[in-house]
Order: sequence, then structure tokens, then C-alpha cells
Amino acid sequence: MNDVAAELSNSRIIAAYRERTHGSAELAREANQLFPSGITHDARNVDPYGIFVARAQGPHKWDVDGHCYIDYFGGHGALLLGHHHPVVTEAVRAALDDGTQFGASHPREVQWAKAVQRLVPSAERIRFTSSGTEATLMAVRLARAFTGKQTLMRLKGHFHGWHDQMASGYTNHFDGSPTPGVLPGVAEKSILVNPGDLAAIRAAFASDNDIAAVIYEPTGSSFGQVPLGAEFALEVRRLCTQHGVLLIFDEVVTGFRATRGGAQMAFNVRPDLSSFAKIVAGGLPGACVAGRKDILDLLDFNASARAGREKIAHPGTFNANPVSAAAGTAALTVIAETDAADRASATAADLRAKLNEVLAEAKVKWAVYGTYSGFHLFVNPSGLDVGPHNFDPAKIPLEDMKNQPKDLVNKLRLAMLVNGVDLNPRGGGLLSCTHTADDVATTTAAFREAVRMRKQEGELPG
Ligand SMILES: Cc1ncc(COP(=O)(O)O)c(C=O)c1O
Repeated sequence: MNDVAAELSNSRIIAAYRERTHGSAELAREANQLFPSGITHDARNVDPYGIFVARAQGPHKWDVDGHCYIDYFGGHGALLLGHHHPVVTEAVRAALDDGTQFGASHPREVQWAKAVQRLVPSAERIRFTSSGTEATLMAVRLARAFTGKQTLMRLKGHFHGWHDQMASGYTNHFDGSPTPGVLPGVAEKSILVNPGDLAAIRAAFASDNDIAAVIYEPTGSSFGQVPLGAEFALEVRRLCTQHGVLLIFDEVVTGFRATRGGAQMAFNVRPDLSSFAKIVAGGLPGACVAGRKDILDLLDFNASARAGREKIAHPGTFNANPVSAAAGTAALTVIAETDAADRASATAADLRAKLNEVLAEAKVKWAVYGTYSGFHLFVNPSGLDVGPHNFDPAKIPLEDMKNQPKDLVNKLRLAMLVNGVDLNPRGGGLLSCTHTADDVATTTAAFREAVRMRKQEGELPG
């Protein structure tokens, strides 16, 4: 819905949203004159406009109109410890006092790398980058250079950042054709297979000896929206070893969240390379590629000279920025020394169960599901015979899992915002260790009310 259409809409949900958010509306008008769609990240696109947030603490954030929200966006997944964690904030303050950019090596980057290694044994060597996008870009470059092979295998619907090699096959272009602005030659060097399809992977490995690597999100796309488990990971690991293909786990979201050692610890699978971002930098910009020493040696001046091969170049003004290093070290230390990841997972399980009770009560054939500290909303676009207590994501066709009708989810999000809860654009979210039983109860009540509002608008049966 565009702005004009929303203005003319007779939806009570949209009217209630507009009524509460005059300050956000005003900022959205300004932002529309500055940014495409008035936003700075595609996932922040809300019709008619999103909330503008002024501050945040723990599991909560406040918009510029003074309303408090229980936050399940979680800083795009960066905030396992919640907003403004005292240990992280203190570390950042101390780092700021020392200076923000030295153009030199510094002690905090050494501490940061040690904090990663403490939790991720496969991280024999680490190279920090500024974003997850850069980390997967470097992982793929390393894999091609190391193996001398060109093709990258990816799973449909898996997101690895927005660089050219990852653009097809995430939300569209599942046939591998290039998205606008991407060279056909780049897109051609990817093979896209259905998630979980071991037969397709076996067939591709058997017929194509130019595959450098497989990259995927180990618990399934978007933190398990289309779930994958240990069995799949173990078999992919075995096949990769057998065929000389590198296994890259994109742990940008799962890292330090699925378990404190990421999905690789949960599944007991050792990838050759991993990408980490979000939690790794404690809520500040920062990421890394980590993995086998012999592969990361391609970035090493002396090792490359000794091996008589050309080194892979890797500058980056903000690589291992000291403030991000301080935040990351503090966050990873808290995660290593507490049960933060487990607590967030336990609260999420409780939330999933309670939201499903609301759906059952209201006789809505949707479902809330997920693993670890995440939850996903299935809004049953094809009217399948499933429901809140009868839902197995493994049995749902991929198109139904991924193609949740945008307008429907958007309206639910607005209804939840009106009731003080911020979900992610798919109607789900990620929890932090600061979410409490009270937050679960408030969210459950908000969900009950949002479902009632949707029914009142004649958009849900019952
Ligand atoms: C699994 C995964 N990989 C890579 C990225 C890209 O990370 P960044 O946004 O830091 O570039 C994301 C971002 O959401 C992600 O979820």
C-alpha cells in the first residue's frame, strides 16, 4: 500500500497506528525526501511508514512519540544481550576515550579474536571485516582461490548479504538469473539447490568438478524459517570432504546464538570457513571470516610468498575498529561466561507455545514455530490443513514457507505495533536473554488483540 492508499484506507488498524505515531510520520515525510523509500535497510520497509526509535534498553525500545515496544527485531539479530547491556556499554565508553581509529594494530583486536576463538574452535585464523556481507564475500574469494575452482553452491532462500554473488535466489531469481545490476557471468557461477535436497547436492558434486564451496545458513534460511538440522549438516560435511569442496557456514545470525559456539557447536560439525557478524561485534558494526589456517594463509604476506602464490588483498578502513572490538569482546565474554544463549532460547520456546495457544483459541490456521531463540509466523497462504498444534515445517512446500503474503504480514505488524510489540518484517523475531516472562505475557496479550483486530477487519475467519 502506498501512502495515499493508506490515507484513504478505512482500516482501523492503520488509523490507530497513524494516531499514535505523529512524530514518526513527520520524520518519515522528511526521510522520504532523503532516502529511497525513506529507509536505510530494506527490512525496515513498513507501509505506510515505520516507527522512528529514540532509545532502547534491555528488551524494550521507545519511539519518538514516547511509546514503549517489546523488541523482537533485536538489532537485526545483533542483540542477544539486549539493548544497552551495561558490560558492553562500559567497554564501548572506555574504548571511545582511547580513540576510535588508529590506522594501526591495537590490543583490542587481539582480545577480540581470542574471544571468538574461545567459543569457536574452527576459527584457527580470523580476519575482521565491517559487515557480514564483506565476510561472506571474502569467504567465497578464499574458497575459490584455495581450491582453484569457480562455482559456488548455495541453497534457495538463504541470505548471505547483498554482494553480487549472493543476489539471485534469495527472495527471487530462483533460476539463478542475475538481478538488476549484476553481471550474468557472476550469477552463472552459482548453483542454487533446494534447502535440504541432499540428492541434488550429490548429483551436482558427481557431475561438476568445478565446485569450490557450499555456503549456507546452518539452521536454515532466516534463522530456521525453513529449518535445517544436524543430519543435513553432517551429510553435507561428509560430501564436501569426499569431493574436495569447502564447507562455509554462514553463522552471521546463528553464531553465538544457536549455542554460544554457534550452529557448528550445536551440530558438532566443523566447517572449513565461517562468517560471523551481528553478535560478534556486540551491537556495533563488525564481522569476520574465520576458519582453517591453511585457507586464511591466502591473506598472509609471508605464507603466500613462501608458497609462491599471489596473496589475496584485503584492506578495509574499519576492519577491527577498536570500538567494535571492545563491544564484541565484552559481548562474547558475557556469552561465554553466562547462560545468555540458553536463556533466550528457553524464553523463545515459551513465547512460541503461548502464541500458538492464542491461534488455537481464535481458531486461526496459522502457526508459530522456530528453534533456539527465534520464532516464525506461518500464515498459511494456500490454506493448508495445518494449524498451531498440527504444524511440521518440514512438510510444508518451500513456496508456502517463504512466500508469506506481504500485505497480510504488514498489517499484522502494524496491529502488533499498536499493541506495543515490534516484530520483524516476516512477523517473527529473535529474543535476547533480557526478555522476561512478563514480556512473553504482554506479547501474548498483544497478539490476542492483534488477531482480534484482524478479525474485526474481516481479514481472518471466525
Ligand atoms: C545469514 C546472513 N548472512 C549475511 C548477512 C549480511 O550481514 P550484514 O548485514 O552485516 O552485511 C546477514 C544479514 O542479515 C545474514 O542474516
